[in-house]
Amino acid sequence: GKSGYEHYMLKEIHEQPRALRQAISGRIDEFATSVDLDVALPEEYLRSVDEIQIVACGTSYHAGLYAKGLLEPHADVRVTVHLASEYAFTEDRDPWRTLVVAITQSGETADTLSALRDASRAGARTLALTNTLGSTVTRDADDTVFIRAGPEIGVAATKTFVSQVATAALLTVHLGQVRDTLTSEAATELLESLRDLPGAVQQVLDREATIKRAAETYTDSEAFFYIGRQAGYPVALESALKLKEISYDHAEGFAAGELKHGPLALVTPDTPVIAILTEEAAAEKTIHNVKEVESRGAPVIGVTSDPVTTDVASTFEIPSCGPLEPVVANVALQLFAYHVANEKGRPIDKPRNLAKSVTVE
Ligand code: M6R
Repeated sequence: GKSGYEHYMLKEIHEQPRALRQAISGRIDEFATSVDLDVALPEEYLRSVDEIQIVACGTSYHAGLYAKGLLEPHADVRVTVHLASEYAFTEDRDPWRTLVVAITQSGETADTLSALRDASRAGARTLALTNTLGSTVTRDADDTVFIRAGPEIGVAATKTFVSQVATAALLTVHLGQVRDTLTSEAATELLESLRDLPGAVQQVLDREATIKRAAETYTDSEAFFYIGRQAGYPVALESALKLKEISYDHAEGFAAGELKHGPLALVTPDTPVIAILTEEAAAEKTIHNVKEVESRGAPVIGVTSDPVTTDVASTFEIPSCGPLEPVVANVALQLFAYHVANEKGRPIDKPRNLAKSVTVE
């Protein structure tokens, strides 16, 4: 059942600290220096990989974009992220040096399964990141890593997104260690961030009332823009998807730097802009974009762990949490989406036209 929550989505948002603890449980050593992820693909093979192709849809695709930002620098490997429905294994790739990673909560998404089969047929090795034991993807892929989020009933993916990113961070450390590309400082920084994540997420959940109040002031808005850079960009895309699917309002996520190349024309006093201000150097640049939209009269909400230097009129303060801080920002914006939609009386767990698991191409 819903354990007293009004919707499964809200219950699942609140389950995130636990889901994250499960995702890392037994997988990080006590000194936060190494991981034990039980990856069956041979280490010799993992060392020879020169490109990882991630295939996924929807929220899982956003987790894939986040994963790219972790894997590329730390595992020193080229990562391309593909919408599964647009994927094709191309001849210019050496299948022996290409690892295709399917990210899929359900393990049953037709587009993702078909992309994976295409890669297998071409001779590439495949790895699944999934939440679902016994799902089709676990049979199709050469190897599986479970995200351990527990069952997710709400159509809107919430806890499975954060668990996918956490598992991608573990995979990053595993690959970085096998490939000898990860410094011990970077390993510790990532693993400490992972260990801090459940507590940081809990602190955001404890501030739900503030986020709910903010959401209530925006229920008349019909278009919302989300901007971010680096990992803040996939979080902007994911937060916009969450809002549009459950509230039916128009919402778009943009790379903050792209605003002035077109979308800025849409910005008016009626379009709230939510700025993900994580990762210091990225946040400093995004603040310039915040000024641009503020001068067009748009109300701005900045999501930040540093509201003092940020200097935005309205902020959601989140605890700082190292490289995974954008995940914490995402949780604040899940709650925002939920409360905007709930204020409008939308059927949050079963939005019109959508299914939890999309088994047709
Ligand atoms: O089960 P999957 O992760 O493969 O599902 C992919 C998408 O259908 C899914 O992430 C969808 O975008 C979310 N339910 C949206 O909240």
